[in-house]
Amino acid sequence: MINRYAVNITKSIEWNIADNISALITGARGSGKSFLLLSLIAMLATLPQKQNDLLGTSMMPTQIFAIDLKNSDVARLKMLLPSNRVAHTKSDALNILERFVGFMKQRLEFIQNETPFGSTAKSLGMPAFYLIIDEWSATSAVFNDAITKEDKVQKFKWFNLMHELMMLNRQALFGVIIATQQATVTNSGLSTAIQEEVGLKVHMGNATSEAYRLTFGNDLKIPNKYLDVGEGKLWLEGHNLDWTTPFAAPYIDTDNFWKYSSTSSGKSER
Ligand SMILES: Nc1ncnc2c1ncn2[C@@H]1O[C@H](COP(=O)(O)OP(=O)(O)OP(=O)(O)O)[C@@H](O)[C@H]1O
Ligand SMILES: [Mg+2]
Repeated sequence: MINRYAVNITKSIEWNIADNISALITGARGSGKSFLLLSLIAMLATLPQKQNDLLGTSMMPTQIFAIDLKNSDVARLKMLLPSNRVAHTKSDALNILERFVGFMKQRLEFIQNETPFGSTAKSLGMPAFYLIIDEWSATSAVFNDAITKEDKVQKFKWFNLMHELMMLNRQALFGVIIATQQATVTNSGLSTAIQEEVGLKVHMGNATSEAYRLTFGNDLKIPNKYLDVGEGKLWLEGHNLDWTTPFAAPYIDTDNFWKYSSTSSGKSER
């Protein structure tokens, strides 16, 4: 039977989103974080997956929301997704997060009040929702830089909503994927709540042992393997307990990717 919550990052590495809902992707500039996000989005949005294919059958598509304050590759999803799903400004980012958390609460309330005791989004076979945040540290910096009263209100809302999201999202099947250059808790505003809640951790490209330690913590063993652009090391909760696994992200042919995605999303590129 196909697992409708399974995302094959590679042929042999299966990410079961119902078990490990949220993910953290780190890596130096140009290491392939945003491109990995794009493949994950393509796979999630077209669940359940077909074997050996990036795009699935879309029988149970994941609803995607995205924040990219750098207004780069991920922000281009604006062309494909329904309106109010992609933000590249501060106020839109906050709106999207508020909407996302609002939908999550609606779902949790529905599950609690309208379904048999013990039901979860997974047991009810509900589709997942995902919030993708590219450049987390730049995003946090924008919210942290609060001078006016309005800025301070926005900062308070942003970090509170993120915290609330990370506490309640698993049961609701509302995932978060955060990409950031370094997983420093102090500088990037990556709270320990986020660090601890993610069940999939990825570091793209080569790094110092200090950078690996920030992503994976102190206890994991890191194999010594030279990596190219688009390659990384990952750790999946419950899968490889002591070791991070080297892997290559799906190859993205930039000439065709957007054409391909717009055909599958049913929306044209213009
Ligand atoms: N999976 C991939 N398939 C094909 N090309 C890739 C892949 N990953 C990375 N690349 C190439 O490397 C470049 C940099 O990748 P990407 O933009 O994803 O890096 P990044 O880690 O997001 O960098 P930044 O910190 O600058 O945002 C891409 O423009 C692309 O040319
Ligand atoms: Mg990027």
